[in-house]
Amino acid sequence: MFFSWWKVITEDELVDLHGKVAIVTGGNTGIGHATIEFLAQKGARVYMGSRNQGRAQKAIEEIEAKLQKSGNDNQASIHWLQLDLLDPRSVKEAATKFIAKEKRLDILVNNACHYSVGPYKLNQDGLLDVMVVNHISPFVLTETLLSLLRQTATLEDSDVRIVNVSSTAHTQVTTESFIGKENLNKQFGDSLSGYIATCGHSKLANILHIKQLQTRLNAQSTPITCLALHPGTVMTKGASGFLNSVPFLARCNDFGLCCCRKGSS
Ligand SMILES: NC(=O)c1ccc[n+]([C@@H]2O[C@H](COP(=O)([O-])OP(=O)(O)OC[C@H]3O[C@@H](n4cnc5c(N)ncnc54)[C@H](OP(=O)(O)O)[C@@H]3O)[C@@H](O)[C@H]2O)c1
Repeated sequence: MFFSWWKVITEDELVDLHGKVAIVTGGNTGIGHATIEFLAQKGARVYMGSRNQGRAQKAIEEIEAKLQKSGNDNQASIHWLQLDLLDPRSVKEAATKFIAKEKRLDILVNNACHYSVGPYKLNQDGLLDVMVVNHISPFVLTETLLSLLRQTATLEDSDVRIVNVSSTAHTQVTTESFIGKENLNKQFGDSLSGYIATCGHSKLANILHIKQLQTRLNAQSTPITCLALHPGTVMTKGASGFLNSVPFLARCNDFGLCCCRKGSS
């Protein structure tokens, strides 16, 4: 699955999602934004996991207006789910509130990321920001929501999916262990390649978690599909900011990057 990015699914191939509930983190921009548009267009009730209410509401209004204009609004139902991935406690709280509010969760897309070339910083718990945002908080979100995802998987006609939007940056590192703060905070140098490797380290953790989760669910015969993917090279705010911060890469903004709808498909 991870290396099948050349197979682009068109919106016509997406199944009807009326009655389904989805969460997409980081949907106020980029690939997450386009993913929410797709899911809402197909009739799902979608929660945008985002840290800033103003940015979330603006993005929700944009998507609703776009779907209405194209005649595809399908009674789009998009809501803000407040969470800051830099703080795993806020993620746990958001997931707990969600479980109290919703009776099902069919699709969880861990999409949001810490998009920067570094230098990376420690958060309030002394953990590296890029590891917290890209792996620890998505881990907390997924594991807290797992009871509801499992429950949904027992319903008739369910097809529950957990998707980690990852990156081929994970191929830049090898690591022996993720156990303990020292290993989680491991950095690979103060250079562009070092920053990409440090980010890739967090993406590797993210992929290993989803693989291990699939193994665990299979062993319990729980019909949930866990996926990790690389979306391609997509023109987003994050990708553009990253390229602009590296002089010799800035020109790449002018060519070669695909649009968010293609990336999200
Ligand atoms: N674009 C590419 O070419 C490319 C390539 C490989 C992999 N990917 C992966 O694709 C995914 C989406 O990337 P993108 O290019 O769409 O990025 P993007 O445009 O920069 O969007 C990132 C999203 O993450 C959110 N986010 C960042 N920190 C957060 C936090 N602490 N709490 C909650 N939300 C937070 C941002 O919200 P704010 O507005 O609040 O910052 C934003 O909505 C990422 O996992 C990335 O690694 C992208």
